[in-house]
Amino acid sequence: MAGGGKVQAPRGTFDVLPDDGRRRARLRSLCEELFAQAGYGFIDTPIFEATELFARGVGETTDIVQKEMFTFEDQGGRSLTLRPEGTAGVCRAYLEHGMHKQPQPVKLWYWGPFFRHEAPQAGRYRQFNQVGIEAIGSDDPSLDAEVILLLYGLLESVGTKGVRLRLGSLGTPETRRAYSDELREYLRAREDQLSDEVRGRLDANPLRAFDSDHPGTQAVVKDAPKLLERLTQDDAAHFAEVRALLDDAGREYEVDAALVRGIDYYTRTVFEFTSDALGAQSGVGGGGRYDGLIEMLGGPQTPGVGFAAGIERILLVSEIEGEAPATDVYVVRDGGGATSASKVLAALREAGFNAQMEQAGRSVKGQFKQADRLGARAVVVVAQDRLSVRDMGSGDQRDVPDFAEALKVLEEVLA
Ligand code: HAM
Repeated sequence: MAGGGKVQAPRGTFDVLPDDGRRRARLRSLCEELFAQAGYGFIDTPIFEATELFARGVGETTDIVQKEMFTFEDQGGRSLTLRPEGTAGVCRAYLEHGMHKQPQPVKLWYWGPFFRHEAPQAGRYRQFNQVGIEAIGSDDPSLDAEVILLLYGLLESVGTKGVRLRLGSLGTPETRRAYSDELREYLRAREDQLSDEVRGRLDANPLRAFDSDHPGTQAVVKDAPKLLERLTQDDAAHFAEVRALLDDAGREYEVDAALVRGIDYYTRTVFEFTSDALGAQSGVGGGGRYDGLIEMLGGPQTPGVGFAAGIERILLVSEIEGEAPATDVYVVRDGGGATSASKVLAALREAGFNAQMEQAGRSVKGQFKQADRLGARAVVVVAQDRLSVRDMGSGDQRDVPDFAEALKVLEEVLA
């Protein structure tokens, strides 16, 4: 269709402009350094996957699967979904590439776009980015602690403000099933005080009551029995060890018996980092252990643990600065075509300078202004029969016989 108003980006999406892009590049290189140091290799999985992956992995009764997925059919009638999270895809890749044959645990990190059809607001988008890690193939509590401490370290290194860590344990699926029955009974007896949504999900997933922001529901769950009090001895010991390791590392956390995450694959450890600086969307990052996920995807029983953090949320609460690339040299065109100026520009870049040249038809005076705006410390003036170099600091300008001499002068000026 021709005409109409200005075309706009879809709701809940955003453009990354260069200033923002530089902060992201800096964050990414910090992540790369931090994770490489701990032995995590980079993995990139497809942005769309078979819908079944998330239905099975994330869970049919979760908000993500029920309401938030961007799902479509391809030309062959297969149902595909833009990935709402990364763990299911990474576990699928682990299985598909036989990574269980490698020495365990296999440690992976990722960075990229994710999609959830949520109501957009500050810090909550329909296309957003996550950085995450997954350590697959071991249920050692030291791995839970490592994952948590890596996110702690990352948030600290980017200078995040007001960050709190909440920690819980969900035990095994069997414990959770027994507990769910107990909780369902408890909630049923107080059904009239619950929100419609929680009441509607009582059969499928009573634990979601802990997620509710409905005041009546909140009052009811405050005194409800807690899963943390029902853990088996093994699970309780695992949780105690994770806590001890965090204590040893001198990291603060709060045990939150009501910590529920919006994804079904979790077993044992769960955690969430929040920041008051974020307002309503306070989750900066979170994760936990998912010892049953790979089995749910058709693989052998394989434990795993990981986290994901929202890149936009990290940037909202951090002081991380991007580095603007400075222009060293600006090439001013004083008459003549683009040929000789372009040659000089190419040679400058070849010699290792950050160089730009006039490409918008400004007057010579306007070009010097532009060089100034770009912060160029030197200018090479290319005239039809003359080459000169100006030191933008002192204002000295010198004619040079050839490019080799221009380079020598530039070295002096930029030294
Ligand atoms: P999640 O808690 O659903 O966990 O998401 C992790 C982080 O992604 C959140 O803490 C938040 O910072 C960011 N995030 C989520 N939704 C949005 C949104 N709509 N807009 C902006 N940021 C958002 C997971 O995704 C799990 N895969 C984490 C994990 C890894 N568990 C084990 N391994």
